[in-house]
Amino acid sequence: MEITRTKESRLSSIDFENLEFGRQFSDHMIDMSYKNGAWQDPSIVPYAPISFHPSMHALHYGQAVFEGMKAYYADEETVHLFRLDDHHQRISDSSERLCIPSMDKSSFIESLEELIRLDHQWVPKKHGHALYVRPFVFASEEYIAARAANEYRYMVITSPVAAYYKEGFNPVSLTTTDNFVRAVKGGTGEAKAAGNYGGSFLPAQQAQKDGYTQVLWLDAKENKYVEEVGTMNIFFLIGNTLVTPKLGGTVLPGITRRSVIALAKEWNVDVEERRITIDEVFDAHSDGSLKEVFGSGTAAVISPVGLIHHQGKTLELDREKIGPFAQKMFDTITGIQYGKLDDPFGWVHPVKVG
Ligand SMILES: Cc1ncc(COP(=O)(O)O)c(C=O)c1O
Repeated sequence: MEITRTKESRLSSIDFENLEFGRQFSDHMIDMSYKNGAWQDPSIVPYAPISFHPSMHALHYGQAVFEGMKAYYADEETVHLFRLDDHHQRISDSSERLCIPSMDKSSFIESLEELIRLDHQWVPKKHGHALYVRPFVFASEEYIAARAANEYRYMVITSPVAAYYKEGFNPVSLTTTDNFVRAVKGGTGEAKAAGNYGGSFLPAQQAQKDGYTQVLWLDAKENKYVEEVGTMNIFFLIGNTLVTPKLGGTVLPGITRRSVIALAKEWNVDVEERRITIDEVFDAHSDGSLKEVFGSGTAAVISPVGLIHHQGKTLELDREKIGPFAQKMFDTITGIQYGKLDDPFGWVHPVKVG
């Protein structure tokens, strides 16, 4: 892998006390091309603008997928990546759905290790802070034709981010919508396709105008089964059972979701991955069995839900704080990620940087 180091690091210009998510980028990035039927020329180069023609395919047809993960500071010599195999599997699955050639696991992992080694000083040291890692692939062919492209570019950029919760947990409020859907069976909902997000911004804006944090998506066909939230999967603790919508083509298979399920099972909590209607959630709240609701995702890990609005009805949980189950889940997952707790599942991928 060819590495070109930056002549001048921007590290000293970063105010690590005031990081804004996704605004500052580390010194280097991965860049690889797909041409003539093969991925080739893997390189690490200084983070810089890239040039392309206005006819670049991805701009017109949205043939683009991405991933989101984090690198965690463990100690002076070690940075942790989390569930790398799963991220590789998901970007491969997303790529397949979008007709993008996938790349082998060793190139994916080795190039990330190299990038982390090179930019390890960009991994914030404070507990809770992390280096957000954004791999993405897009059709780079200069050709406007509505068919899969023949040329692609894979890149990885990284961005130091602050703790998601700076002043304690902030429970989110969710609303369903009767006017929009996120994903239909057979569509691209289970892929991390760029276009899925583009289409979700208008409903999200409307939800925010109405005073809610995010949309709680229901199924597109009957508008009654709960699916997920903007960038999180969703869990309901009903009695002593943890219920989450099953995957089935329309829900993004979250890696935090998978971790929550594995840990809950380890703790002998009954876990049900099944269809759950929004009415069942409201009924469980009415009869007192709905104990906790929380989202799961890489950005916040666990995000308590304090309120759900659906067709004029509102369900309120404790809007001030996180429930004990969600708290334990948050503490355990972050403990494993930062190397403070044992990693019985082998989720952590240590990168030696010292
Ligand atoms: C639509 C959607 N659902 C769920 C998630 C949570 O997935 P993960 O836990 O892998 O971050 C994300 C974030 O990637 C997302 O974008």
